[in-house]
Amino acid sequence: MRFSPYARAATLDELREAVSGFELCEFKRGAKNTVFSDGNAAARVMIVGEAPGREEDIEGRPFVGRAGQLLDRMFEAIGLSRTSPDAESAVYITNVSPWRPPSNRTPDAAEIGMLLPFVQRHIELIDPEVVVMVGNTPCQALLGQTGITRLRGNWTQVLGKPALPMFHPAYLLRNPAAKREAWADLLALKARLKS
Ligand code: URA
Repeated sequence: MRFSPYARAATLDELREAVSGFELCEFKRGAKNTVFSDGNAAARVMIVGEAPGREEDIEGRPFVGRAGQLLDRMFEAIGLSRTSPDAESAVYITNVSPWRPPSNRTPDAAEIGMLLPFVQRHIELIDPEVVVMVGNTPCQALLGQTGITRLRGNWTQVLGKPALPMFHPAYLLRNPAAKREAWADLLALKARLKS
């Protein structure tokens, strides 16, 4: 189902306002902040994560805790940064949920379905060249599939754009051996951006 009045935002500012004013998701009640996005809106690469954690909820910015620091290092290794003013070397970052779920639990299918129109509109408005989905939740939202171990590294499409599922950096912190696959995926992304 599309919540069309909310998803029809014509600009990023309108979308931010629509998200901030959305009262139907119970996550919002327990959250300190709405975490909309970070990075350069002109970036070629848009990263979609799951949901803010404790640090992100406090700061109001996505991926600022330990997993976020690893995410930054991963993308910096291929020359991409959320602080780059240059679209060529910039990333833009958002999450499926703009609010921290209680106890950091994974959003369920109904919650993902409710938030999906916002994420889709967000992708349309940013209009990146490539969408990177980190972890199962954005894959469930945007591809209708989970099983990140199988999905990662396989290029697919989201809203007509090339899209790459990758491991979530929090998973990589728990399973450092999987960094090998994450590195392969980063190199595939770098090669794609060159072509
Ligand atoms: N994990 C996510 O998926 N997103 C964040 O913003 C932080 C941690």
